[in-house]
This record gives sequence, structure tokens and C-alpha cells, in this order.
Amino acid sequence: MSAKYLVTSALPYANGPLHVGHLTGAYIPADIYVRYLRMMGEDVLFICGSDEHGAAITLRAKKEGIKPRDIIDKYHPINKDCFEKLGIGFDNYHRTSAELHYQTASDFFLKLSEKDVFNVKLSEQYYDEEFGQFLADRYITGTCPKCDFHSAYGDQCENCGSDLSPTELINPKSTLSGATPVLKETKHWYLPMDKLQDWVSEWIEKQNKSETWKKHVYGQCQSWLKAGLQERAMTRDLDWGVPVPIEGADGKVLYVWLDAPIGYISATKDLTDNWEDYWKNEDTKLVHFIGKDNIVFHCIIFPILLHLHGEGFILPTNIPANQFMNLEGDKMSTSRNYAVWLHEYLSDFPDKQDELRYYLTANMPENKDSDFSWQDFKEKNDKDLVGLLGGFVHRTLVLIQKNFEGKLPDSVNDVAGETVQKEIDHVHKVLNDLPEVINKSIHNYEFRNGLNEVLNIAREGNRFLNETEPWKLLKTDKEEGAKVLATCLEVVSLLAVYLEPFIPFSADKIKAFLNFNDNDKSEILKGNYTVFRTRKVNQPEHLFTRFDLDAYKKEGKQVFKTMEAALKAKENAIAESTPAVTKSIAPIKPLIEYDDFAKLDIRIGTILEAEKLKKSKKLLKLLVDIGIEKRQILSGIAQVYEPETLIGKKVVVLANLAPKKMAGAESQGMILMSDTSEAFTFINPEGEDSPNGAAVS
Ligand code: 2FM
Ligand code: ZN
Repeated sequence: MSAKYLVTSALPYANGPLHVGHLTGAYIPADIYVRYLRMMGEDVLFICGSDEHGAAITLRAKKEGIKPRDIIDKYHPINKDCFEKLGIGFDNYHRTSAELHYQTASDFFLKLSEKDVFNVKLSEQYYDEEFGQFLADRYITGTCPKCDFHSAYGDQCENCGSDLSPTELINPKSTLSGATPVLKETKHWYLPMDKLQDWVSEWIEKQNKSETWKKHVYGQCQSWLKAGLQERAMTRDLDWGVPVPIEGADGKVLYVWLDAPIGYISATKDLTDNWEDYWKNEDTKLVHFIGKDNIVFHCIIFPILLHLHGEGFILPTNIPANQFMNLEGDKMSTSRNYAVWLHEYLSDFPDKQDELRYYLTANMPENKDSDFSWQDFKEKNDKDLVGLLGGFVHRTLVLIQKNFEGKLPDSVNDVAGETVQKEIDHVHKVLNDLPEVINKSIHNYEFRNGLNEVLNIAREGNRFLNETEPWKLLKTDKEEGAKVLATCLEVVSLLAVYLEPFIPFSADKIKAFLNFNDNDKSEILKGNYTVFRTRKVNQPEHLFTRFDLDAYKKEGKQVFKTMEAALKAKENAIAESTPAVTKSIAPIKPLIEYDDFAKLDIRIGTILEAEKLKKSKKLLKLLVDIGIEKRQILSGIAQVYEPETLIGKKVVVLANLAPKKMAGAESQGMILMSDTSEAFTFINPEGEDSPNGAAVS
């Protein structure tokens, strides 16, 4: 057991509202974890805040002709308010635009600089002459050299996930002006991550031994390490961010991924003067809750920074990143406005916070992507919350009200008849097992499972009710009926406590039905639930109501309107593009038998050399390694591809096409391409599973 816990949730960019995908990714799991730890009496700080720098904000400001400050001042309070309304109990929701953060981030950088950690060097970087600005990260787009995706960013290709630098992009274009940028010299401070490769590898192994990391988190780290860590600039030429605190660095700011995680430290400083008791205390367990797109920054870069900084900063024990949540089978998208936005949900359903918390926990993308579907939301709401949980609590309390005016007699403490007592013993076994099962789930970051385990005691309660039928017993043997209800009341009292981390609003309502006081909770946590048998209970209300999806849609609730508008826009876009595509699709040729197909020998190859052919405008002369040999192949792609961009490219080759002479050279095969009248692109056999020579069949 740790002496202290420091729990962080990724600082969301204050460049727009938050949606359910964000909530289930980094905020609900952290809140469940923290609420549970607090319930167990642990010393926990829960830290978050707005990430108010970075290209997402400055680009939006440029597009809308406003200042970054206007954007962050609008969205910081909106997002903070949503978290509060949903019961996400941060101790501090800070801002990286705060003075204290600027000071903290500056000092952190200076310390690294004084320790000579950085490689400071001049290099040529892309520059937009029209906007007078260097172009890093999201300020530049182009074709990905690894997968040909046409809208890769300067720092990453969202199609294949490759980590890129702007100079690797093919046909780079400025996001600001759309123009082709020029190269210009500039100075930057680089973090030599390559030198820390061994340290990171060993550290991750050590952490993973002390508390197993999620497979996909560990796997992503391994793939970064396998590719080899590269140095990375920790400064940018921008006018929005924390200024680089070094003379001669005018017009430069800290890289947002250096600045943002330091936000966890400044937010803690802002909260308490004792911040070092947490951040510099070997007995503190630091846990970062994030989405999978933030893994490298929290598992590799920030730990390196903390390690190099020294001064006793602790490193994270675990980083239980979640995967992504889709919406009705499609990726949520801020730019397409396709999401369930929290502010809209809360305005449409101001009293259904727990319904959302429940659904997002039951459906959390803990180890693989999951899907938000309104029909599924309705079904889970109606079945689990209304039917099972609400139904069990209501039935129990109403029977006690109706038959005993809210208070069971002391005789419920006597042993029941054999059959009923056997059932009671069974319920007690399930209740006694619960604390350990929950504890294990929470400490393994398995929140879906934890929630399901709590619901299992309601399932057991329902089974017990149906088995013993107290409504019948009460007519023939009232004392025996009371004993059944006393056991149900024990289940309800455990639900009041153990549901709190998951659905706190409903847990509070149950506590109110049971006239809970502070001491009651600790009694239950100690396993002393029998005192509740004779607790005076209040007339209950229904905890949940059915989710009338059709009626809500008809009423025009905003969450549905937003989704429908986005779907409509997508349909229109598809419809607009359809005629052109249809034109370009050739009709299907006459059927062939498998034997005809089997005559083709199709192989994977890699282009080793590429050059223009003097006598032809259309043809490129390629040397292709097809595993068993190297082939000279002529390909009619000279007008679409520059030869030098093709070196190293994986291709699909028809290897037994009879050799043919063209423009004075021999072609010994054919590269297969996807060919429409609009585009002429390579079929993409990237990856270890397609080695050269592999047959395509
Ligand atoms: O991906 C994001 O939304 C980032 N703003 C997360 C930052 S987490 C931390 F480093 F602050
Ligand atoms: Zn790519």
C-alpha cells in the first residue's frame, strides 16, 4: 500500500468542447479510481486542467481570425463545468496559461538547460514566407513517406501512426497559406532521447514488473524502442506558449509536449504548498490516466524529462491508457462535429449524469476500441439500471415500508428456518466476497469488471428475492418474511457504498433512503453490514427511469440533432463525390475460373532503384527486389511519382508476365497499381507480414 497517490488525467486542449470519447478515455476511469481510493481512506490528489497551448489552439484562432486567448477563455470554463456536473472530482482543474505554470515550466526547462541536457543546434526547417512563420507539427501537411496518405502532419501520420518530421513529408504544404514552404535556418533545443534508450528500456521493464502495464501500452512502448528513439526538439518558433527562458531565444516557445505534462506539477503546486510531499516522495504512487494517442509522451518523453531534471521527482508507476470509443460504428470527429458532446448531453439530460457514467464504464475501451450506440445505451439503462438495480432497491424498500412502516423488528437477528437460512447464507457469502473482488479490479484498472461485480450483488439480491418470495411469506409467516427483507437491506446498504465510485449521484440517493451517516460507511467497509437489518428506511423514489429514445429524438434533443446533421453532411459529401467515382470505375470483366487466376505469379517486392527513362515521358525504370531475384521493371508512373520518392517502397509485382521491350529497355514484370481516372496509386503491402517474395493469392 502506498502512503500517497498522485492521480492525473490528461489535460484536455481548451480548443473546443469535450465529448463522451474523452470522458470514457481519461476522466471516468480516473474518477472511479480516485473515489475508490478515497473511500478506502487513502491520501490522494487528483489533478487535471486545460492544456492551453499547441497548434490545435493557434490554428483554430488563425482560422477564425481571433486570438488564442479568446478560445481558451471560452472553453476552459465550459469543460470545467461539464466535469463538475458529471461528478469528476478533481482537486484542481488548473490552466497552462496561468502565471504559476509559466514559472514552473520555465524553471523546469532552465534546470535542464543548466544541466546541459539539450543539444542546441541550427537546422533548416520549413518556413511559410507569406505568414512569416516556421512550420512545425500540425502547421505543415504532405504525403506520408511510409504509407502515401495525402494529409499526414509534420509530426505524425494519422493513417499509419508513423512518427514523422516535417522534412520527411512528400509535397509539403503550409497549413496556414497552402503554399509550398521554403527551408530556412533556425536554432532549437533538442532532447537527446537516443542517448536515453537503454535507460527507458530498463525503466519500463522495471515498472512493468512491479505493476503490470496494459498490454497495448507496453506494446506501443516496445515498438517505439524497437524503432530506436530519436532526438526531439523541445522548442518551437511560435508566438503562443511559454517563452524559452534563455537569452537569444526570442520568438521561441516550449514544445507543447514539454509544457503540458509539467502542467500536472504546476496544478499540484497551485493546490497545495505541500506539493513536494507528493511529487518528490518515493512513497507516492503516480498514475497517469490518458488516451492511447498520448502513450509515448507519458511513457517515454515525460519520464525522460523528469529523470534528467533530477531533484527527486518521482516517475509514474502506471499509465493505464484507454483505447478509443467510436460512435455508432464511426470515428468521433471534432472537425465533422460528429460526437456526443458533454455540454449538449448535460443540457438535454441534466439529471442523467449517472446513466452516462454507467454506460461509459460498462462500455469502456479498456483494452480495445469500443462503440457508443444509443440503442445499446437505452438497453443497458433499461435493463441494468431501471430493471436490475433500481428495481431491486425499490422492491426491497417498498416492502419494508408497506409491511413494517419502514423499520424491521429486532427478531430479524434470529436464525431463520432451514430453507430461508440456507439462501441467506448464500447471499452473505456473495457479500463477503465483494470487497476483495472489487479491490482487485480497481487496482488492476479493470473498471468495467469492477462495476459488473457490484451489480452482481444486486443480481444475487434479485435471485434471492425471487427464490424466497417474501411477499408470499409475509402473509403466512411475517417474521420469516422480515428476515428475507433484512438480508435484502444488507445488500442495499452495500450497494450504497460500493456503487459510489461508479455512479455517485445514485449512491447518494440510496444513502438518503437508508439515513446513512459517516460512520455507516466505515462499518460497511469493515464488513459490519448486519446493523442495517433494522435500520429505519425512508419511502424510496425510483432511482432511474426508462430511456425513451424515440420520444427524445422526436422532442429534438440536441445530442441527436448534432449527430444527425453530421451524418447528413457525410451523406451529402458522399453523394457529391459519387458521380466522379462511378465514372472512374471500369465495368467488371467476364468471369474467369480459378485455374486462370492461378497462372498469375504475384509477389511482394521492394523498389531498390528508380530513374526516368530518356526515351519516354511516361515510363520509369525500376529495379525491384522480389525476394528470389532482382528485376528491371518499367512502369508508366513517371508523370505521377518522382523517382527518388519510390526508393524503399513496397510494391505488388506480377512476376511471370512475359518480358517486353519498351522505349529501348526491357521490362521483366509489372507493378500492380490501383488505377481510376482520378488517381494512380500503389497497392500497399507494408509490414513484416509481407516480406519480399511473398506470393499474393
Ligand atoms: O491530447 C491531448 O488532448 C493533450 N492536450 C493531452 C495533454 S496531457 C498532458 F501532458 F498534459
Ligand atoms: Zn502514413
